[in-house]
Amino acid sequence: MSDSKNSAHPGQVNTGSPASPVPANTHPEEIVAVQHVFKSVADSTGTLEILHDIDFALAAKETAAIVGASGSGKSTLLSIIAGLDTPTSGTVKLAGQDLFAIDEDERASLRARKVGFVFQSFQLLGNLTALENVMLPLELASMKNARQLAADMLARVGLGQRLGHYPKVLSGGEQQRVALARAFVVQPAVLLADEPTGSLDFATGETIMKLMFELNEELGTTLVLVTHDRGIAQRCHRRITIEAGRVSESSSHFAASV
Ligand SMILES: Nc1ncnc2c1ncn2[C@@H]1O[C@H](COP(=O)(O)OP(=O)(O)O)[C@@H](O)[C@H]1O
Ligand SMILES: [Mg+2]
Repeated sequence: MSDSKNSAHPGQVNTGSPASPVPANTHPEEIVAVQHVFKSVADSTGTLEILHDIDFALAAKETAAIVGASGSGKSTLLSIIAGLDTPTSGTVKLAGQDLFAIDEDERASLRARKVGFVFQSFQLLGNLTALENVMLPLELASMKNARQLAADMLARVGLGQRLGHYPKVLSGGEQQRVALARAFVVQPAVLLADEPTGSLDFATGETIMKLMFELNEELGTTLVLVTHDRGIAQRCHRRITIEAGRVSESSSHFAASV
């Protein structure tokens, strides 16, 4: 649009550092693009192929469930999307930026600004309070008002009274709430969740999933969720089934209700 340069207004919220330009040859609506990703590792018998030609793209706010048996490659795929592991070949683009065309420092910086990660085992730092755990990604992304933003997000997940608690005195469900607050507090473009309810009882898991979908909706995050739970997978727009490192099935529909 020719008049778009005049559309910014003073009240517009700026989410942080100066906007980095989106490369011209990428589709701006594709927040996650996984392109022909292969991953092999050397093992005692030669080469073990973990991922074979994984290829899909997700638009802003889209939710995708990655399902598949244990050992099928789901966690490896998530690590590659986060830029924590490298593909043997293929590329991953986050918000148009090729993750593996930049160096590790730039990748860490991009991850800090764009990606939230939630794990099955919570992965909170035991020597930090709930508040300090949630402040950490804000500090890594050099965002101002870390303490206030972290406190607000902990209140949002129902832990306003637990700011000074250490992880070991929190229940599993509470720890995962802290982890959700930590993941969402930077308002990431992408949230990656690896079996986030896998360590929780059914009822607590349901509460956590509900909260995750709510935050996803509120913040307009693109969600990639690894889950064994078919009911949870059904709540996502897309389901991508992986068998022995290959996409065996991919279906999409917009869930009637979340
Ligand atoms: N660094 C590695 N070295 C060797 N094998 C690995 C490595 N990482 C993962 N694997 C193997 O790759 C397969 C997929 O692992 P993973 O991605 O964790 O599967 P999932 O999350 O679906 O259970 C498994 O067989 C696992 O043992
Ligand atoms: Mg796994």
